[in-house]
Amino acid sequence: MQDFTEDNLTQVVCEEYGSKTTDERLRVVVTSLIQHLHAFIKDVELTEAEWYRAVEFLTATGQVCNEERQEFVLLSDVLGVSMLVDAINNRRSGLGTENTVLGPFHVSGAPELPMGANIMLKDIGGTPAFVQGRITDQDGTPLEGAVLDVWQASLRGFYDVQDPEVPQWNLRGKFTTGADGRYWFATELPGPYPIPPDGRVGELLRACGRHPMRPGHLHFIITAEGHDRLTTHIFTAGDEYLESDSVFGTKSSLVGEYETCHDEEMARKYGLSVPFQMLDFDFGLMRSVAEEPVAA
Ligand code: BEZ
Ligand code: FE
Repeated sequence: MQDFTEDNLTQVVCEEYGSKTTDERLRVVVTSLIQHLHAFIKDVELTEAEWYRAVEFLTATGQVCNEERQEFVLLSDVLGVSMLVDAINNRRSGLGTENTVLGPFHVSGAPELPMGANIMLKDIGGTPAFVQGRITDQDGTPLEGAVLDVWQASLRGFYDVQDPEVPQWNLRGKFTTGADGRYWFATELPGPYPIPPDGRVGELLRACGRHPMRPGHLHFIITAEGHDRLTTHIFTAGDEYLESDSVFGTKSSLVGEYETCHDEEMARKYGLSVPFQMLDFDFGLMRSVAEEPVAA
């Protein structure tokens, strides 16, 4: 009979899983996970009290998850795991617009709006803004029929789903491009905001001396036939949290410079007051790589 010791346990456990798991990918993932987990425990010489605390932390994290709240995704976000998975799965070699985190506030089924619509349904004193640009493929050819799904927080830092004082679908909408690939809509500047700080993830940030803030940003999911889905943000240049995003989602290529605009005719046309902030930002989508036909 074999004794399980500090020295042989990792190898024994890996061999057990490695020899019995028939799904090849599962075998690779599980054995690597065991190796890294054991190495971590040895590295920090985890105490029993710490192990128990970790179990309690994960249990409490799971207990606040429901249809509207996913504390595990938030945990993955603040540990940089979401961005790492995103980076590995969206290597773009400098072509196309970069991805960033989806976040928990996307709601599917946003209203489909005509180009130029104002997505600010209730004026709570925010700074009016106009956002426009082109959606092209990776080579700069305009994409017709691309769907741009946008959502954002208000200047107060709340999404509509968090703010009982604004109507449903405030600061959300879907726009479809014409042959020139152009998009344009009116809105207000997005404010910086904290990620939900009242769960175990908030507790972890406080314990580690980190703030929960994200810099102001517009969210986008852009889809076009034959192209990879683009999930991204435009961050506001000059935001004080650009260098310290709590979820590590910032990229310099995704920072947009707004300019102050005094065009009264344009303001009238799009329901804005002057002066308003104007942003020009183009998106490039990668052509999807055709799946290899499966050999018979
Ligand atoms: C967001 O930008 O909506 C977000 C992203 C990650 C975690 C929390 C919020
Ligand atoms: Fe957000």
